[in-house]
Amino acid sequence: MTNTGATIISPPTERSVVRETNKLAPDDRAVHDWYRFVLSFPPHLVGDYLNRFGATADTRVLDPFCGTGTTVVECKKRGIPSVGIEINPVAQFAGAVKTDWTPDPDGLLAHVDEVAAIALDTFNAQGIEDDPARGSSSDAPTLPGRLRILPAEQWALLLTNSISPLPLHKTLTLLDVLKRNNDERYGRHELLALANALPFTISNLRFGPEVGLGTIKKDVSVVGAWHAGVRAMAADLRALSSFSPVPSVVHHADAQDHYEPGAHVVAFERDEIERVARELGITSLKNLGDLIHSFRYRTTLPEAIRSRAPEGHSWIIRPAGRARYQFVTTTVANIVPTSMMAETKIPDATPAIIAMYALSDEQALLVLRHGSFDT
Ligand SMILES: C[S@@+](CC[C@H](N)C(=O)[O-])C[C@H]1O[C@@H](n2cnc3c(N)ncnc32)[C@H](O)[C@@H]1O
Repeated sequence: MTNTGATIISPPTERSVVRETNKLAPDDRAVHDWYRFVLSFPPHLVGDYLNRFGATADTRVLDPFCGTGTTVVECKKRGIPSVGIEINPVAQFAGAVKTDWTPDPDGLLAHVDEVAAIALDTFNAQGIEDDPARGSSSDAPTLPGRLRILPAEQWALLLTNSISPLPLHKTLTLLDVLKRNNDERYGRHELLALANALPFTISNLRFGPEVGLGTIKKDVSVVGAWHAGVRAMAADLRALSSFSPVPSVVHHADAQDHYEPGAHVVAFERDEIERVARELGITSLKNLGDLIHSFRYRTTLPEAIRSRAPEGHSWIIRPAGRARYQFVTTTVANIVPTSMMAETKIPDATPAIIAMYALSDEQALLVLRHGSFDT
């Protein structure tokens, strides 16, 4: 091919466009990158929708599946009140901290310096360097058998080799120092910075789009990575200090949960039973109609449901449309016989035709009694 001097620019493939648009733009970084996960929306996408919907300070935005809080943070930056709901406690914690801009940046910096110094002293006493560039600690004679480890059941949850022993030891030591020197004005932000540094810098994980193993790091600077994260937070907090306060809250809850304490009516759809069963790992679900029928007429509701009826009430299930139902409370008729009353025998008034079939054909008997085939 001859060189004509022309630059040929190939059009971006669909995949590369998606990758680019999903990235965090440099201007968007403030607060959003305090903690993000692979499923996070790009903030500019949320911004576009807020513009399209014409959201203003008089609007209240709800994100019922708010993850690590991209929507609520973007709303707060734009002065729009918002509410998030998130079922995963770590993601909810991230969203809640990212919408808390109250810490004083100078106070946060002073506290992180103090905690970092204590952690580095602890490492020194163990013969450990935080920064591997200043000398490897992995050969320190005091180390073997003295590294901190996770309890077996937590360790079992981790991908094999996802974190090397020395970085794990340093992280657990720093976590301990953080807990012992907690200042409630800054503690949640400092913890989130460690939660962020852990997968992205301290561990051996690699993201994108699947989670897998990257380079195995025998040693890594843990206090350094965490300290840098908190410093970045403090810089964002300083930049945001001129923003007027906007209410935003992130609840830790199940957005698909219909029940509220004290409720007398709880609606549900038949399909939800399948979803909840899947979440509970129940795979052998058959004939949902019969299941509901059984709880309406034959079987006692589980204690987890019975115990949520308001005082003096119990639940019954009523149909509420095609494949829709409602739990409705009813007052419990509590008839206690008293021994002071005289006993009156009720004469057997069973019609002869029913009595005749009673012992041989139970189904026919029920039909006769109810006058219908819907038992
Ligand atoms: C795609 S992510 C949302 C990402 C989010 N927009 C962000 O940018 O960080 C979906 C989130 O919904 C949460 N979720 C799933 N089912 C939920 C439920 N029933 N109630 C509340 N949150 C739920 C998941 O834990 C996950 O964090």
